[in-house]
Amino acid sequence: MRKLTYFIHATLDGYIAGPEGQYDFFPFEGEEADAILADFPETMPTPARAPLGIADRAAQRFDTVIMGRATYDPGLKVGMTSPYAHLTQYVVSRTLVSPDPAVTVVDDPVALVRELKKQDGMDVWLCGGGKLASALRDEIDELIIKREPIVIGSGIPLFDGPFVPSRFVPVATRSFDSGLTITTFSKDAKDSNKEAPAVHIITPSDDAVTVSPNATMSGLASPSRGSAELSTWTVAMDAGASGPEHSISREQVWTVTAGVLEVTCDGRTEKVVAGQTLVLPPDLVRRIHAPERVEAHVSMRSDGVASVPGTEGTRELPWAR
Ligand SMILES: NC(=O)c1ccc[n+]([C@@H]2O[C@H](COP(=O)([O-])OP(=O)(O)OC[C@H]3O[C@@H](n4cnc5c(N)ncnc54)[C@H](OP(=O)(O)O)[C@@H]3O)[C@@H](O)[C@H]2O)c1
Repeated sequence: MRKLTYFIHATLDGYIAGPEGQYDFFPFEGEEADAILADFPETMPTPARAPLGIADRAAQRFDTVIMGRATYDPGLKVGMTSPYAHLTQYVVSRTLVSPDPAVTVVDDPVALVRELKKQDGMDVWLCGGGKLASALRDEIDELIIKREPIVIGSGIPLFDGPFVPSRFVPVATRSFDSGLTITTFSKDAKDSNKEAPAVHIITPSDDAVTVSPNATMSGLASPSRGSAELSTWTVAMDAGASGPEHSISREQVWTVTAGVLEVTCDGRTEKVVAGQTLVLPPDLVRRIHAPERVEAHVSMRSDGVASVPGTEGTRELPWAR
């Protein structure tokens, strides 16, 4: 069966790019560049193939590539709408509209990979980045890590998602004089034979907390933490705090667990007290105020985004993603 392979360049401390997406500390030269061009020529972007002397070199492993939107973005910004035109290209995004007929945008990476695995073909290259790799972790059959002997201290991790230990077994390593190693790992059979649990338990963590000037949001369920459709979080506002006037593209359900909140819509203010539940329809412009300290539990479809009257565009709710 076709494999999903995460083939990626990483630092010794497990990063695939710097905090701002920097990657110029990954050299591409010498015998290791020759080895990659021989074994994985299809992983070079199309515009680089002729300058690298591999314009006509046949693919060795992959005929399909899957990228996260943030991996596709830097090329797009400089007009490269079809970076791997020699492969079948998918970009995973809930926000992007495909700018090129050669690139298919999908919003459900797991369904895509399961469908691709049913089809005939060469293996599928998971190009990155860390967020997409985390979403696809259970589907990854093989890791090929080009590990650069460099430590960078912070950046974008190989897997950027919830804490779930998953074991891989090293099957081959090639070492180069520069200190680079290319190690292939396959999924531990014990892990892959393990039946997936029917439920998913999410433990609150400091990583999921967002503090704004008016409120503290603590993310609970969200797609990056294991739910498929809904996001939930708690919100706490101190006495006297008021949020900005805004609307949300999806219905939200707020259950007040402590204190009182006031919600103002169309010039009318309603009070919601502990134990009561407030249903806010999609796109309703509202302002939330806390006359005393208030805590609430909120749920929403996970793709809801915020709009502020009088401003352009929408804003994501990071604690819900
Ligand atoms: N060292 C290397 O070999 C290497 C290779 C590839 C990438 N990189 C680097 O990695 C960085 C990007 O990695 P990243 O972790 O920040 O981002 P990423 O995984 O490339 O992209 C994240 C975006 O992909 C979409 N996405 C991810 N999971 C999804 C899901 N389950 N459902 C729907 N959409 C989903 C979302 O797009 P929307 O927000 O549009 O919904 C999300 O914001 C870049 O700096 C890139 O240069 C390095």
